[in-house]
Amino acid sequence: MNYQDSRISEIAKLLKKRIVETGNNPDVLRSIELKALFDELKLLPANEKADFGKQLNSLRQDLSATIKTLKDAEEALPPIDVTAPFDINTKPKDMPSLLPSTDGSRHPLSTELETVLNIFYRMGFTSVESREIDNDFNMFEALNFPEGHPARDDYDTFLTEQKDAKSKPFIAPAHTSTMQNRVLSSSKQLLDNGEPIAVIIPGRVFRNEDLDARHEHTFYQVEGIYVDKNVNVGNLIQTLKTFLEEYYKKQLEFRTQPSYFPFTEPSFEFTMSCPFCDQLGCSICSQSGWIEILGCGMIHPNVLKKAGIDPDKYTGFAWGGGIERLVMMKYGIEDIRYFESGKLEFLRQF
Ligand code: DAH
Repeated sequence: MNYQDSRISEIAKLLKKRIVETGNNPDVLRSIELKALFDELKLLPANEKADFGKQLNSLRQDLSATIKTLKDAEEALPPIDVTAPFDINTKPKDMPSLLPSTDGSRHPLSTELETVLNIFYRMGFTSVESREIDNDFNMFEALNFPEGHPARDDYDTFLTEQKDAKSKPFIAPAHTSTMQNRVLSSSKQLLDNGEPIAVIIPGRVFRNEDLDARHEHTFYQVEGIYVDKNVNVGNLIQTLKTFLEEYYKKQLEFRTQPSYFPFTEPSFEFTMSCPFCDQLGCSICSQSGWIEILGCGMIHPNVLKKAGIDPDKYTGFAWGGGIERLVMMKYGIEDIRYFESGKLEFLRQF
């Protein structure tokens, strides 16, 4: 629209530009520039008032119309479907072709985890899944790693910038042991009823690792906890032996070596004869015939106490180990990084 008065014409341009720049802001109708023009109108001699007033009314209508046009255009924008794999507005001929579902397969870790869980269910264990984000209490304090304990450094993982109520960052758990306090606290009633606590905890864990064929930043573990009266190391060894021989469907040899974890006393590294080569020597066991498969031990009295269980009355054992390692040993997989790689050549073999 053209205005005879050059100032009105200039302000019209300025305000229209502002409408667009401010994302279609209706406040432009109350702007000081517009108000100043209306103030000026009042002061004009009577013979000029009618014409100037008309132009101002046109300007106001013009601005309202601009706002409305932009608003309508915004509302008329087609919706965008953010769900993969394509926008609903895509024409059929432009759609990417999808792999037929008949070419898919279950991920080997899902299949193997199910096998692991089934063996433990048959041994009387129940299961609880671990969390993918946790806190300092469950990651360290409840597991007998006081503030500043040097063993905390062995569990270097990813932290959030956001802090919890105690001003500590949240933690992507470096092991499934983070669930020990929760499981012990919530199951202790069983002990009072004369039943054992027997729980396994599968879960995804994270570590700040230098990646290589044996180290991955994201992997899976299975944790196990057993607490009752008179539980001893013999029970621990027999439980693990039964599980591993059932999983590999063969007789194996086992060794325990002393180790250190703040949450167990005594602590062990559990080693088995290589199930892949039967100790003939292979690249999976680095020709040694033996493989360290998991960490374990008798639950430290402080861990039981933190969960409200009397360590003078009850004892228990716990263990935790990587699921990928178990599966690598079963099928002779040489590189742990295949599991998270999404490589179809690898996945289709299972
Ligand atoms: N959480 C330990 C790790 O990832 C493994 C472990 C050791 C778990 C001893 C246990 C245990 O429950 O008792 O290094």
